[in-house]
Amino acid sequence: MAYENLRVDRREDGITWIEIDRPKALNALNTPTLLELERALDEAAKDSSLRVLVITGGGEKAFVAGADISEMAEMGPTQARNFSALGHRVFEKLEKLPVPTIAAVNGFALGGGMELALACDLVYASEKARFGQPEVNLAVIPGFGGTQRLPRKIGPMRALELCFTGDMIPAEKAKEIGLVLEVFPADSLREGVEAIAKKIASKGPLAIAALKRVIIEASACDPRTANALEQEAFGVLFGSEDQKEGMRAFLEKRPAAFSGR
Ligand code: CAA
Repeated sequence: MAYENLRVDRREDGITWIEIDRPKALNALNTPTLLELERALDEAAKDSSLRVLVITGGGEKAFVAGADISEMAEMGPTQARNFSALGHRVFEKLEKLPVPTIAAVNGFALGGGMELALACDLVYASEKARFGQPEVNLAVIPGFGGTQRLPRKIGPMRALELCFTGDMIPAEKAKEIGLVLEVFPADSLREGVEAIAKKIASKGPLAIAALKRVIIEASACDPRTANALEQEAFGVLFGSEDQKEGMRAFLEKRPAAFSGR
C-alpha cells in the first residue's frame, strides 16, 4: 500500500531512505504519519536485504517540526496519553531495528522531531538544521521519549536547560553538545550521509546487528551482565560464514564478500 505522508526509497544496495513528507506542516507528526512510519518500520524489520535505514525530512525547511499541534490542540488527557504512547511505540520500533539507523537532519528538528532524531543510532545535520524541545512554549513537555533519550545523550543538566528554556540551537551548537556527529553544508548532507551508510553497509551485517544489540541492551544492564552479553555475542559470531570469510579474506589479502550468514 502506498504512503501519503512518507516517501520510502528502498534501494538495491541495502540502504533505505524514509522521508517524512508533509512539507506544508513542516513534516509535523500527526497520527496518520506516525502510523505510516510504523508500517514502514515493520516492513524494514522484515527486509533481510536492509543494511542501513536513513530518516530525513521532505521539502526545504524541516526535518520534522514536532508533533502536530493542530491535532493536539483540543486533546484531553486520555487522548494525549494515547498519542504519547503511539509515539513511544513507533520510536521504540525504530530504536530496536536490527540495522543501524541514521537521522539526516536537514532543517528544523523540534519537539517530536528532535525526539525522532534521538531515537536514531547516528545523527548528522545540515548547517541549516535547528534543534530544540520547545514544548514548554505550549505548556507541555516532550512526549515521544525526549525526557529519557535526551539526558542519556547529552547529560541531564544540558537536557534540562534545553527543555526548560525551549531554545532552538543551531547545528554547530548541537554538535558541540554531542547531539550531532557531523555538520555538512546543506547541499552535501545527503552525499555525506550516503557515504557513511555505504561504509556501514559494506561490513559484516551480523556483526553490525550484534554491535547495536549489545551496545543498546548493555546500557540498561549492570556491568557484569553487560560484559556477559558481549562475550556471548562475540562467540555466536564465530558460528557465522561471514566471520570465516572476513578472517580468511584478511589472511589472503583480498576484500571480503559478506553474505549476512
Ligand atoms: N504542528 C503542526 N503544524 C506545524 C507545526 C507543528 N509542530 N510546525 C509548523 N507547522 C505549520 C505551521 O502551522 C504553518 O502552517 P500554515 O502555513 O498552515 O500556517 C506551516 O507549518 C509553516 O510554519 P510557520 O509558518 O510557522 O513557519 P516559520 O518558518 O515561520 O517557523 C517554526 C518555523 C519555528 C518551526 C515554527 O513553525 C514553529 O515554531 N513550529 C512549532 C514547533 C513546535 O513547537 N514543536 C513542538 C511541538 S509539541 C511536541 O512535539 C510534543 C511532543 O514531544 C510529542
